[in-house]
Amino acid sequence: MVKTAVLVSGGGTNLQAILDALLFEEIKNCELTAVISSTPNAYALVRAQNAKVPTYVVDVNLFPNRRTFTDAIIDKLRDLDVELVVLAGFLYVLSPRFVSVFENRVINIHPSLIPAFCGDGCYGLHVHEKVLAYGVKVTGATAHFVSEVTDAGPVIAQKAVEVKEGDTPEILQRRVMEEAEWQILPKAISLYCEGRLKVEGRIVHVLEEGEA
Ligand code: GAR
Repeated sequence: MVKTAVLVSGGGTNLQAILDALLFEEIKNCELTAVISSTPNAYALVRAQNAKVPTYVVDVNLFPNRRTFTDAIIDKLRDLDVELVVLAGFLYVLSPRFVSVFENRVINIHPSLIPAFCGDGCYGLHVHEKVLAYGVKVTGATAHFVSEVTDAGPVIAQKAVEVKEGDTPEILQRRVMEEAEWQILPKAISLYCEGRLKVEGRIVHVLEEGEA
């Protein structure tokens, strides 16, 4: 079983999708060891507690800078012997040390088809505002490994979602979550835990079942 931790900052609907997929055994070979929140107020913590998953808070407001904050998370993950880290609505950019300690072991979900509508300052509802302002007709979500450059790591899975006439950022956000994020994030986690992801440079090869 691959010991896995999910990092959260907010409502935690992606965490809920992971918890549900674990319950229905759609994610294989994965042990959810911890949910770690950057704030004590995240509703994601309640979701984890309801599912009897241990929760921890590493409060971003108690640290002077990003380096000390992410060092504290590294210490916690090492204490718990975590192999795979999942960013599910975790809204802070990790330090270069974090990325190198967990190279190709951190999976992020981003609510657009990367490389469109991503990068610094492009997160949460802002992404959907930018999508609507640009006028594209298709958007979606991307699950990817985290590298030192924001939203630029190797892509694991993507799913397209239609932009419809009359969409607001909130309506589009919900459709992208339902039709894309909540499906591809649990799938990406399972593929990793089954040993079916092979990374060569920035290309992620998905091995067939039994090939791993
Ligand atoms: C999700 O849409 C996720 O893709 C996005 O924040 C939302 C968190 O919702 N993440 C980013 O924009 C990261 N760049 P949730 O807490 O309900 O899962």
